[in-house]
Amino acid sequence: MSIIAPSILSADFARLGEEIAEAERAGADWIHIDVMDGHFVPNLTFGPLVVEAVRPYTKLTFDTHLMIEQPERYIPAFAAAGADRITVHAEACVHLHRVIHLIREHGLPAGVALNPATPLSAVEHVLDDIDLVLVMTVNPGFGGQRFIPQTLDKIRSLSAILRQRGLDRIHIEVDGGINADTAPLVREAGANVLVAGNAVFGEKDRAAAIAALR
Ligand code: DX5
Ligand code: ZN
Repeated sequence: MSIIAPSILSADFARLGEEIAEAERAGADWIHIDVMDGHFVPNLTFGPLVVEAVRPYTKLTFDTHLMIEQPERYIPAFAAAGADRITVHAEACVHLHRVIHLIREHGLPAGVALNPATPLSAVEHVLDDIDLVLVMTVNPGFGGQRFIPQTLDKIRSLSAILRQRGLDRIHIEVDGGINADTAPLVREAGANVLVAGNAVFGEKDRAAAIAALR
């Protein structure tokens, strides 16, 4: 059973709390929260204040995807704001192991994200300390981009490595261009957490959109 995590990047920001509550009613499992700093990625979104403001609108897991440089500077603030899990980019951390442990010291499960061009080896030596690998299936920064099919091989290889090492407790999350056409492909390759922005918030009937992804 896949975990479906609608990304609020494609939601109506003027009604963010209600959009999140509606996603929960429509059957979402997690809420995916895209934080961008205009440096690591060419776009800007929001920070911990907004996470804190929308926290009362749902009990669902806030799956916080930090697309920011030096994420260690903001981990305490996102944890305090109500993030339930935090994922940082391997490319954004000089001391990835230390950052992972900082997340865990705040009582949260840690994830590591990899851009499409980043090899799996970037995460291999920290697998014992994390519970999620986010395989980006587009270059991060914007919603509504096209799925990059070459990422399927990476998902398959990661899935094999996790099985070999007895680490299949680790979630394989995919993010970018996931819709009813690409969902079966990534699932077959081994992904179990599916992030979808446009494919959920771009549709009027969110329950039908989430059902289509399942
Ligand atoms: C991409 C973000 C994604 C984005 C996905 O930079 O990390 O979470 O919202 O959007 P879709 O599903 O529209 O590709
Ligand atoms: Zn994301």
